[in-house]
Amino acid sequence: MAKLLWKSQYETGIPIIDEQHKRLFELLEQVQDAVASGNTQEEIRDLVQALMADTREHFRTEEAIMAHHGFPDLLAHIREHELLMEKLEDLHHRFEENQDSMALMMSTFMGGWLRHHINEGDFSYAQFIKSGQATSGSSDLLLALWDQGAITFL
Ligand SMILES: [Fe+2]
Ligand SMILES: [Fe+2]
Repeated sequence: MAKLLWKSQYETGIPIIDEQHKRLFELLEQVQDAVASGNTQEEIRDLVQALMADTREHFRTEEAIMAHHGFPDLLAHIREHELLMEKLEDLHHRFEENQDSMALMMSTFMGGWLRHHINEGDFSYAQFIKSGQATSGSSDLLLALWDQGAITFL
């Protein structure tokens, strides 16, 4: 199975985001190694839980950064995060049916998604922030999103 490794080409230049992406790739690799090595179901379950929790935290971090800088495509980006979490949760609900195969499906699916999403989605807000177009603390946008229920972290 191809390894899901973080590569320097995924670097956004935003340190907290790069650290979180590295951590997600590490967890994906750990899930795959745990299944391949025949680790206990508890160990695999713990890794899958950590993957979901850290993914949620990463998305919250990104969404807060994008909102703070007034990134115009924030809602579309949030929607992509939501769709990924829906897919992961769907697979996770089926986890008890066959833990090994669900753990592999979750890590394989998320690994492919993450590589694509960093290149197509995360680079776009990172570029926006680094380009100097960002409007620091765009409160009108934040309040509008808050009213729509799109963000919950004000
Ligand atoms: Fe990301
Ligand atoms: Fe993202």
